[in-house]
Amino acid sequence: MSSTEKNLLDPGFELTLRPMRYPDFYERYRDAIKNTWTVEEVDLHSDVADLAKLTPGEQHMIGRLVAFFATGDSIVANNLVLTLYKHINSPEARLYLSRQLFEEAVHVQFYLTLLDTYLPDPADRAAAFDAVENIPSIREKAEFCFKWINEVEKLDSLQTQADRRRFLLNLICFAACIEGLFFYGAFAYVYWFRSRGLLHGLATGTNWVFRDETMHMSFAFEVVDTVRKEEPELFDDQLQQEVTDMLREAVEAELQFGRDLCGEGLPGMNTDSMRQYLECVADQRLQRLGFAPVYGSENPFSFMELQGVQELTNFFERRPSAYQVAVEGTVDLDEDF
Ligand SMILES: [Fe+2]
Ligand SMILES: [Fe+2]
Repeated sequence: MSSTEKNLLDPGFELTLRPMRYPDFYERYRDAIKNTWTVEEVDLHSDVADLAKLTPGEQHMIGRLVAFFATGDSIVANNLVLTLYKHINSPEARLYLSRQLFEEAVHVQFYLTLLDTYLPDPADRAAAFDAVENIPSIREKAEFCFKWINEVEKLDSLQTQADRRRFLLNLICFAACIEGLFFYGAFAYVYWFRSRGLLHGLATGTNWVFRDETMHMSFAFEVVDTVRKEEPELFDDQLQQEVTDMLREAVEAELQFGRDLCGEGLPGMNTDSMRQYLECVADQRLQRLGFAPVYGSENPFSFMELQGVQELTNFFERRPSAYQVAVEGTVDLDEDF
């Protein structure tokens, strides 16, 4: 078989970059490099004073949030290396994934620094990093992730349609449910604090992470689009049903986390509004994948509607000299919030 007849999910480690078969993936790699940021640029100083002002309910929410952040990006990074890099057979896509892996490492470093700053007591730190074991609402989300990692763990190569379907479910799980739903839920709590003038350092770092995650998700969806063009027979009613069920499960997993975080509810943030937000986001993910939405919920969080615009403004206005490379062109933020 000549290289031009190969599909993206055909097994192998394609090396040829010319002629370039997937130039869009290469452009995404180049765009991502323009967005380089470092943890040292984020000033967490004022957060410590803010933390002391929070109510016990708010402090509980922050404790749970940082405990989730302590491991979330590591799980994504592991799946990237163990599954996505192995099976997406395009050197252009693998360049992007290499860059994404670096970004996930920066996220892990950011949350490590955040936890060290927020939790001065070594016992509290250890408990937060051990959240997957000892906090049930976080363990449930981790188990959801591990289930979809384990589904494909034994696959050395995608030989059959069934293999490819399993791989697609893993890819879609990480993009739509983990980066695209669990993380978006977590970001919503951060921006809720910011909307009240609190935890500016956390919000600043979250701006960069949010932007990265949006691009990771967008890349994964482009991989899905490419596979759909090359192998449309994989996208049948069964896949749609499996993806829809997976998203429903993700919404429930995130919601039980939300119940733990919100307790009886805080002004402007409670489990009802979080449910509505998650359902709205899940519908957007389904629609982006070409599937029918199932919830019909509206976004209740005005601070998240603004986020896309604000984040870009911050990115271009607040740190023009911090770029490691000059930025030209536009930013691709084609995913909805
Ligand atoms: Fe990340
Ligand atoms: Fe990511």
